[in-house]
Amino acid sequence: MTEKKFELTDLSSGKKSLLPVKSGTIGPDVIDIAHIARDHDVFSFDPGFGVTAATESKITYIDGDAGVLLYRGYPVEQLAEKSSFMEVSYLLLDGQLPSRAQLEKFTRDISRHTMINESLLRFFNGFHHNAHPMAMVSAVIASMSAFYHDSMDINNPRHREIFAHRVIAKLPTIAAAAHKHSLGQPFVYPRNDLSYCANLLHMFFAVPCEPYYVDPVAAEALDLLFILHADHEQNASTSTVRLAGSTGANPYAAISAGVSALWGPAHGGANEAVLNMLEQIGSVENIPKYVAMAKDKNSHFRLMGFGHRVYKNFDPRAKIIRAACYKVLEKLGTSNPLFELALRLEEIALKDDYFVERKLYPNVDFYSGVIYSALGIPRSMFTVMFAIARSVGWVAHWQEMIADPAFRIGRPRQLYTGATRRDYAEITKR
Ligand code: SDX
Repeated sequence: MTEKKFELTDLSSGKKSLLPVKSGTIGPDVIDIAHIARDHDVFSFDPGFGVTAATESKITYIDGDAGVLLYRGYPVEQLAEKSSFMEVSYLLLDGQLPSRAQLEKFTRDISRHTMINESLLRFFNGFHHNAHPMAMVSAVIASMSAFYHDSMDINNPRHREIFAHRVIAKLPTIAAAAHKHSLGQPFVYPRNDLSYCANLLHMFFAVPCEPYYVDPVAAEALDLLFILHADHEQNASTSTVRLAGSTGANPYAAISAGVSALWGPAHGGANEAVLNMLEQIGSVENIPKYVAMAKDKNSHFRLMGFGHRVYKNFDPRAKIIRAACYKVLEKLGTSNPLFELALRLEEIALKDDYFVERKLYPNVDFYSGVIYSALGIPRSMFTVMFAIARSVGWVAHWQEMIADPAFRIGRPRQLYTGATRRDYAEITKR
């Protein structure tokens, strides 16, 4: 097959160069522009990285127009129906679905790291009781680098594997500690006889004075949400982890940077913002007013949970979560008027040209909060839930980058439009 090339011509000087084109296994080709500065003295310009492939990766593939999401080639719909969060975690990290023995060993290895250092627990006493859980979680995860700084040789595959297990295992414990601190309740230690999600619910909701039984429906619902949130290609928080990790920084610090990036309402913080928005809308009668505000640039109001940089079709995860809402609410014998409101909002918005023309559909954050609420998880913890699941993707991408001998520190350039060179003026002359 002939090697594909793009020709770049500087029309002002007539200088031409042939740019190599790289093809992936699926998805668009990429034009290798690495030498355009050397050959043409120009940079590429792509604010927000909308069309920039920052790296090669084998982990997750998204087709935004078709609404396709594959984890290591497996459709997320099949994994949501047939797999588990521990099995998907193994798949994302290893690249292959595990055998039964491999899955049992992986699950056991994770359970060996569920406790956190008692000194880390004392960090929570330093936070005010109403500190946002994302602030506590990002701070405590960054502090993990203080505990493992001397045993973190990022070039040692075994160290990288233990790091992966520690992050995945300890995030639920750290999240639960933040939740208990907010409630003023005693911390509940992990139980390794429970599944990953059952243990999380146990740490969140058990109290020392009475037995607590995990509802299997709730554990199953959480496992589904974690599968759907586990990875998503080069999203903002994953790109943050890659950039921070590319400097050789302690990987716990890189993961903490990812947690901070995820917090934004344009990203993972949207799940909390959706419920706040639905509560603000309040009733079906008010939907037209808020849809009009979302279309008015001067209102600075957006429909949270709507739109996506990549998906210009339904986010496949939103479809699965919407269907799960019906089942979970019914099985738990509960209802949520905000779910009904969300369904009507989706129906009205998707009939409006403004949203249809801009291909703005519900994304993963639009319905997830309905299920988190049904499980009794407070709204301020929704993005922490997202971070727990996404920690697997962050670690998988960090490992993929560090294991690549050709990886280099990330260092974007810019288009400078500031002042040209000028000399210092004495204050008496300004
Ligand atoms: C996640 O990247 C990932 O993969 C992220 C994620 C993951 O799994 O990691 O999928 C998780 O972060 C999902 C997104 C959650 N965020 C929200 O729900 C916040 C609300 N949505 C947006 O603010 C917005 O849609 C983004 C941030 C998601 C995408 O922003 P883009 O790609 O920069 O799109 P844009 O702002 O350029 O919007 C294009 C147009 C604009 O109008 P025009 O200038 O063309 O007239 O669509 C409009 C925007 O004003 N628009 C919206 C809108 N989202 C975009 N208008 C009203 N409501 C919205 N939600």
